[in-house]
Amino acid sequence: MKSFSLYPMRISFCELSLMDSSTDLTTLLAGSPYLNYLYSYPHKTAYRALKKPQSLKQLWQAEDKDALFLYMHIPFCEMRCGFCNLFTTANPQQSLINRYLDQLEQQALQIDKALGNYNITNLAIGGGTPSYLTTVELQRLFSIAQHSLGINLASTPIGIEVSPATVTEDRLDVFVENQVNRISIGIESFIVSEANAMGRPQKQQDVEHALCLIQQANIDILNIDLIYGGEGQSLTSWLESVAQAIHWQADEIYLYPLYIRPLTGLGRKGERHWDDQRMNAYLAACDVLGKAGYQQISMRLFRRKASIITQQGEYHCQEDGMIGLGCGARSYTRAMHYSFDYAVKRQGVLDIIQQYNQLDTQALSQAHYGIVLNEEEQKRRYTLLSLLQCEGMSRHHYKQLFNTEVLDDLPQLQQLEECAIARIDNDTIRLNAQGIAYSDVIGTWLYSSAVRRKMTEYQTR
Ligand SMILES: C[S@@+](CC[C@H](N)C(=O)[O-])C[C@H]1O[C@@H](n2cnc3c(N)ncnc32)[C@H](O)[C@@H]1O
Ligand code: SF4
Repeated sequence: MKSFSLYPMRISFCELSLMDSSTDLTTLLAGSPYLNYLYSYPHKTAYRALKKPQSLKQLWQAEDKDALFLYMHIPFCEMRCGFCNLFTTANPQQSLINRYLDQLEQQALQIDKALGNYNITNLAIGGGTPSYLTTVELQRLFSIAQHSLGINLASTPIGIEVSPATVTEDRLDVFVENQVNRISIGIESFIVSEANAMGRPQKQQDVEHALCLIQQANIDILNIDLIYGGEGQSLTSWLESVAQAIHWQADEIYLYPLYIRPLTGLGRKGERHWDDQRMNAYLAACDVLGKAGYQQISMRLFRRKASIITQQGEYHCQEDGMIGLGCGARSYTRAMHYSFDYAVKRQGVLDIIQQYNQLDTQALSQAHYGIVLNEEEQKRRYTLLSLLQCEGMSRHHYKQLFNTEVLDDLPQLQQLEECAIARIDNDTIRLNAQGIAYSDVIGTWLYSSAVRRKMTEYQTR
């Protein structure tokens, strides 16, 4: 039986471009646990301009549209944090925001027309920082959801992302009036100097004020995002942030490893040092959160057992459809994932928003940029997204969906058991604690070579 230790002696920075589908798992597990930031499959850097625009009506025609997730993307923030590569821009001109909101409404109307009969059972508003918008603008978002897409705000779970400095009483009033029941706030670190060292200007009084206001507003679910592995962060200071999140009674806590890129100031300090720092921080936080009554859902998500969290509707990210509204939002049908072009640098982001703002109604009723998922990719997507949850993946459910055995389709999964990081029984393939800690490696290992090739060829603007 092959096995590995959480603290391998040999650390090799294994680039995605050096892997292929036959890369042995043992080799990967001997390298960095932070191979590639994994939050969806296929990653958006595998999307490309489509040869021909596809009509949304056709794309959605044969889909099950009974339980769709609507995601609205607001690509605006009051700052651009040093670690952030999300599609957003800081302090845009007001005219750009006005036009963007008009265009969101136009896009919603085109989607409504194209989809015909459908039912949205979940709404998330993210970014960027949606709470960067004024109360009037925020109200407009909820009106678009309600009037252009027929969402029943009272019965639909609604989540919104906020940053500490933009949480105000009047914005919270708008959230409460529109029955928002989940607020996710990026804190990253409760230690101001640490947040600043990550390139995030943040004031302690803003953090405390925001959390007090959210508590007073009595929102059902509070999520706090924290990042570990930043410069100047010690294990003690990291655990102080975790303790603070527990103290504020966060119902959910997302723990993100800081991804350190080669050639950056942080990356030059040596990979091993940063890998160990992040792994130690992760393991210590798992321990503290477990003792404080949090259940680990995945490598990043911890949920307070005592809170009244429902599963935010019945949405299953591995299977159900997603409608993305706005530039930067992704939409998922079974066989096609589509979005708009992506950039990180300010000018690239502004150019893409401006192009989006100018699309006419015909262009808004089509997909122009994305990736086709053949059956193999659909199976990989399902496997990857369910396997990386602590509860594991059901082989039985896989067979129901695809009519094949997952171990026949992806025999490489046997290596998980051989490496002693998972148990495979008749119904379930479940990662153990070591496997979950290496989620980003396992996910990357499951990419198809076609997707991997596209990702390595992609040039970020
Ligand atoms: C949309 S923001 C949350 C809301 C708000 N914009 C804020 O920053 O407070 C997304 C979250 O992703 C997390 N994150 C972790 N690593 C990241 C990365 N490399 N780029 C962007 N976001 C990252 C951060 O914890 C951040 O809070
Ligand atoms: S972390 Fe949040 S506030 Fe900072 S740039 Fe990214 S989206 Fe904007």
